[in-house]
Amino acid sequence: MIKASELKLNAIAKDARKHQCDAIVIGVGQGADGPVLLDNPLPPKAAKALADSLDALGVTGAVDEVRRMPGLPELNADVLVLAGAGKTTVSDDSKDAKYDDEALRRAAGSAVRQLAGVESVLLALPASSLAQAAAVAEGAVMGAYSYGHYRHVSAASQRDTVRNVTVFTPLADDPELAAALNRATVIGRSVNSTRNLVNQPPSDLYPDTFAAAAKEMSRNLPIKITVIDEKKLEKDGYGGILGVGKGSSRPPRLVKVEYAPSKAKAKLAFVGKGVTFDSGGLSLKPGSGMMTMKLDMAGAAAALQSVLAIAELGLPVKATAWLCLAENMPSGTAQRPSDVITTYGGRTVEVLNTDAEGRLVMADGIVAASEEAPDVILDVATLTGAQMVALGSRVSGVMGDEGVRAAVKEAADRAGEAFWPMPFPEELRATLDSNVADLKNIGDKHGGMLTAGIFLQEFVGDTDSGKIPWAHLDIAGPAFNEGPPYGYTPKEATGVAVRTLVAYAEDVVGRTS
Ligand code: BES
Ligand code: MN
Ligand code: ZN
Repeated sequence: MIKASELKLNAIAKDARKHQCDAIVIGVGQGADGPVLLDNPLPPKAAKALADSLDALGVTGAVDEVRRMPGLPELNADVLVLAGAGKTTVSDDSKDAKYDDEALRRAAGSAVRQLAGVESVLLALPASSLAQAAAVAEGAVMGAYSYGHYRHVSAASQRDTVRNVTVFTPLADDPELAAALNRATVIGRSVNSTRNLVNQPPSDLYPDTFAAAAKEMSRNLPIKITVIDEKKLEKDGYGGILGVGKGSSRPPRLVKVEYAPSKAKAKLAFVGKGVTFDSGGLSLKPGSGMMTMKLDMAGAAAALQSVLAIAELGLPVKATAWLCLAENMPSGTAQRPSDVITTYGGRTVEVLNTDAEGRLVMADGIVAASEEAPDVILDVATLTGAQMVALGSRVSGVMGDEGVRAAVKEAADRAGEAFWPMPFPEELRATLDSNVADLKNIGDKHGGMLTAGIFLQEFVGDTDSGKIPWAHLDIAGPAFNEGPPYGYTPKEATGVAVRTLVAYAEDVVGRTS
């Protein structure tokens, strides 16, 4: 198993100028009349001189701009770094300056990411509130990520990530800051571990090794893991997961990850799509469409890591992740278009396109999760290419019950992840009617993200008081960054949804306490 490398994080409240480190980072925003230095601990004269020369230096304050300058004589650091924070951050009167948490998270993440090769960094970005200090810390942990597990030669472009980050904040001695920094570390580390799982090539990460990694990653936490192997899946009738896994020489698994503290105030279930490689099956994808399909277990990775983070933070919430693990391959034993499978619980599905496999494994997982009558089910999946057509590659879709959908959006906004609510138009349900079975696995050719969600809705269980509250998170685009890195987001796996799921759990506790 690949471990997320550890970043050392601490905080100081004063003497930033005396602080011995390799680089001091201060922020530059894009003001109405050009670049503006954000609040910083430089000596006023030096700050003024620097502010006056920003234009001449070509510094704009744009997002992801990172400029290194020689350290000033008044500083105990070799390098002074100017990190762009973008537009949203400054008002003209610096006393009333409002700094957006996510802008700070991105500026910190971008600076730390681009300072790879430097060992110790002081982040002297605005951090006068707990939320701001935590955002700076969280950005730093996520920015200090790299995936070098399969690389032999340490090329010049693969410098070591920053090891030591100190956050400059007046709250350094506030007892609440320790908890905030701990939260930032836990969340950042969980995001990074999610990235590691998703980045791992499918030659090494398949259902059985994913299950083993889940065990290994939860070893020191109060977590119970139950692995349902192919024999038990067969015995209990998990026809969705089995059908998808049938074409592969590597058998499927359903993994249940439980955190059940004694004083739980709520009971959450996360169901994650864990297709360790999606070739499309017999409805084979073209080569270009297959290239990124190791990403197709990103939902399961996020569900797993969210439960681990909730446990590590000791939230009084019962949280269970259901990892629906299968490899979707074409072969003589693969399921065929027009096969009918019986999903867990008895409903039949006509499989007309074996590339619409995510909803089949998720159907089993949602039914299994429903049996325990949780207060809410959130499912997370790289479910449809249509998600990217609708929302692009950086905004996830959230669908389902109106209240849960709104709560997920709220949690995501606070966490700094982009989610957007999408509808379930009534007329689309009928497009999933099959001539031979209870349902078919593809619907209308338009609105593919929505029909996939409507398909999943059919499997959400009932309790005495009606349907279990549920939302579906389609993270197909945002799970994987095919472009260059930006902010705290690296190339390839992004670790999306962990922050939203943990924030959701925190909100539930806040609401019910
Ligand atoms: N794993 C894909 C969805 C996907 C596509 C995720 C691109 C990330 C990037 C999913 O299993 C799939 O193949 N969906 C099909 C559904 C269709 C056959 C109804 C799709 O979106 O094309
Ligand atoms: Mn597919
Ligand atoms: Zn898929």
